[in-house]
Amino acid sequence: MSETPRDWWKSAVVYQVYPRSFADGDGDGVGDIPGIRAHVDHLAWLGVDVVWLSPVYRSPMDDNGYDISDYHDVDPLFGTLDDLDGLIADLHERGIRLVMDLVVNHTSSSHAWFQESRSGRDSAKRDWYWWRPPREGHVGGEPGAEPTNWGSAFSGPAWTYDPDSGEYYLHLFAPSQPDLNWENPEVREAVYSMMRWWLDRGVDGFRMDVINMISKAGLEDGELGGPGGPIDTTTHGDPGPFVLNGPRVHEFLQEMHREVFADRPAGLLTVGETPATSVEEARRYTDPERREVDMVFQFEHVDLDSGPGGKWDVVPMSLLDLKASLGRWQEGLADVGWNSLYLGNHDQPRSVSRFGDDSPEYRAASAKALATVLHLHRGTPYVYQGDEIGMANAPLATVDDLRDIESVNAHRALLARGATGEEAMAAIRAKSRDHARTPMQWDADEHAGFTTGTPWLPANPDHVEVNVAAQREDPDSVLHHYRALIALRHDEPVVAHGDFTMLLPDHPQVYAFTRRLDDVVLLVVANLSSQPATARFDPTWDDAEPLLATTAHPTAGTWSLTPWETAVLIRR
Ligand code: NOJ
Repeated sequence: MSETPRDWWKSAVVYQVYPRSFADGDGDGVGDIPGIRAHVDHLAWLGVDVVWLSPVYRSPMDDNGYDISDYHDVDPLFGTLDDLDGLIADLHERGIRLVMDLVVNHTSSSHAWFQESRSGRDSAKRDWYWWRPPREGHVGGEPGAEPTNWGSAFSGPAWTYDPDSGEYYLHLFAPSQPDLNWENPEVREAVYSMMRWWLDRGVDGFRMDVINMISKAGLEDGELGGPGGPIDTTTHGDPGPFVLNGPRVHEFLQEMHREVFADRPAGLLTVGETPATSVEEARRYTDPERREVDMVFQFEHVDLDSGPGGKWDVVPMSLLDLKASLGRWQEGLADVGWNSLYLGNHDQPRSVSRFGDDSPEYRAASAKALATVLHLHRGTPYVYQGDEIGMANAPLATVDDLRDIESVNAHRALLARGATGEEAMAAIRAKSRDHARTPMQWDADEHAGFTTGTPWLPANPDHVEVNVAAQREDPDSVLHHYRALIALRHDEPVVAHGDFTMLLPDHPQVYAFTRRLDDVVLLVVANLSSQPATARFDPTWDDAEPLLATTAHPTAGTWSLTPWETAVLIRR
């Protein structure tokens, strides 16, 4: 790996595995590492360069592993450290890197650090977390006595009272996910040392969970009634301005770089998850000169269907807004910094259901069109497991179908503020994270080939039609299209390194852009709608070389596109 160029990840594609839902090796109904090992050939065939593995550490699983109780071990549900070593070896043999999830804004409340911290006010680790006395003039444990009015991302207040010590601790997520205090240098060193331990073990980098929340600007009351993302601001204040992109976050990331990565050979990858981050802030995080992270996940485009009331106030997504947003990010990071490209992950609804058309008629065409547009942007594309076959949202009929802590709590909170059962379910059905977590659809068997036992979340009934086995046989499938897109990024330098120009920004159906590297120009045209569309481009494109089984034929610069049709042309 010593000859790896520093920015190797510009021509790479990352595949995200959510271990709980990928493949079950032991029949207990929950995905695990042996299950992943049984499918590494799928990843190799697809051609991906990196696997990002969502958390497999020891955890009480309140948030499916994003609540870690031991950073140095694998949870028995997922296997053993030996299994993980085996997976790393299997992937490396196939030239695929493994990036671990790094969840260090918070730990689980079962982590030994927190247990020690909560053992008493004079514990040596008291200051490793955010402990505060009740609000002045209030009695601890009574409503309103919390040190600030902040809401948590998973409903309810962001503070929980500990009667034994008479103080509250901060948790921006669930009460079982207390926030670490990064102001304390011992905390930072403990995190860096854990990261070095994993790199020494052979992992190739980290996807850093909500890393822009590690620096807190101050503990003051937040605004009520604003958007607040996932926070219910009708009942709680928005902590956003005090916890997102805080005053020391860049300093901490630069320190992390020095302490963990600076002396290691190229070939590692760092990606920060950064909700509510502007283009300007993202340039600071990803400017290679500043040595913070290689790229970030920004959230602007996945917040476009949130109304003034936040995440659960669902509004239609407009293509014009999507183009404006993604285009602004392409422009903003054109010369400095780097984009991560994604439409789905384990926290988002399925992309084909949200941005495409998951009806039987247009599912495949829309999945291909969305992938084409995304993968040919400038940036590093992320494929979320199942997107490569166009997996769609689950039919979440009632509250009993929900498993995710965020959805279950949000449902309760929506009812408490007066929504009817159907209104609450409608919002949850649009945005629930459970959609992304149904079992990976390997074949048409019962439970989609995911498990021989009873799956922890039922397989989507559509797996009888939509599955890997069927699509491997069909050269015209979504799966083969993803494979071709991944190969294109590897083979055509213009895809990895070319500049980006948005075309037709005001066209309500067509997403089009060019990419240029020296004399090579790529034209990407996609009808992102379920109606026919026409568009005009420079007639010199009429006879350009088509790539990717393009079928659209322009005449004198005029293109007639069937629903979800795409064309990719190259001029050399
Ligand atoms: C972001 C993760 O992607 C999500 O799954 C998790 O619930 C929160 N951070 C808290 O760790």
